Amino acid sequence: MIVAPSLLSCDFSNLKKDLDMINESAAEWIHFDVMDGVFVPNISFGFPILQATRKCTDKTIDIHLMIQNPDLYVERFHELGANNLTVHLEACTHLHRTVHKIKELGMRAGVAINPHTPVHALDGILSEVDIVLVMSVNPGFGGQSFLPNSIAKVQELRNKAEQSNPSLIIEVDGGVNNLNAELLAEAGAHALVAGNFVFSSPDPKRTMEQLSQIDLR
Ligand code: DX5
Ligand code: ZN
Repeated sequence: MIVAPSLLSCDFSNLKKDLDMINESAAEWIHFDVMDGVFVPNISFGFPILQATRKCTDKTIDIHLMIQNPDLYVERFHELGANNLTVHLEACTHLHRTVHKIKELGMRAGVAINPHTPVHALDGILSEVDIVLVMSVNPGFGGQSFLPNSIAKVQELRNKAEQSNPSLIIEVDGGVNNLNAELLAEAGAHALVAGNFVFSSPDPKRTMEQLSQIDLR
């Protein structure tokens, strides 16, 4: 299982310490939530923190853009060292163009879907994306409760992807913990984002290690 600790839950008064801890952990990706206060009712962080993060790690930086008009910033995220760039289906009028722009720059292109968005909304783009990010909470805040219908969405997506995009990475974000992680793996998830569960645990490295050892379907 790919584990992606979410920086949103880290201690920003000592970012380097948390990044060093992640560097020594089993996490393969670092999840980086960008919020604009328009697409979601919260504002997080952006370019300066990305620059600082890139300096401190060689891990894959997995960017989740919860912003309107993400097209405007694709190049900038690439220049600053993003490896995966995920945009929301609900925020993109010309999603096909956006996805191809991301891929042409050499990043993995991801599309995120909100809890109310059905999996079939991805039908026209599924074969062209590298990652689908299934939101298992309404985006905007860490520490929310996992929405159980996400498990069936992962399963449906996995079945569809087996036909049209067998190398698709299915990532799940929001309220992930040890209880739902096994079910998500069985349903077909390959990558789990975890914020609160990792950073509020007594031993974050051990928590990430345990998540990483969950067998994939
Ligand atoms: C929520 C963000 C998540 C968040 C997850 O909108 O996209 O990445 O950090 O945090 P937890 O794991 O605490 O739900
Ligand atoms: Zn996220």
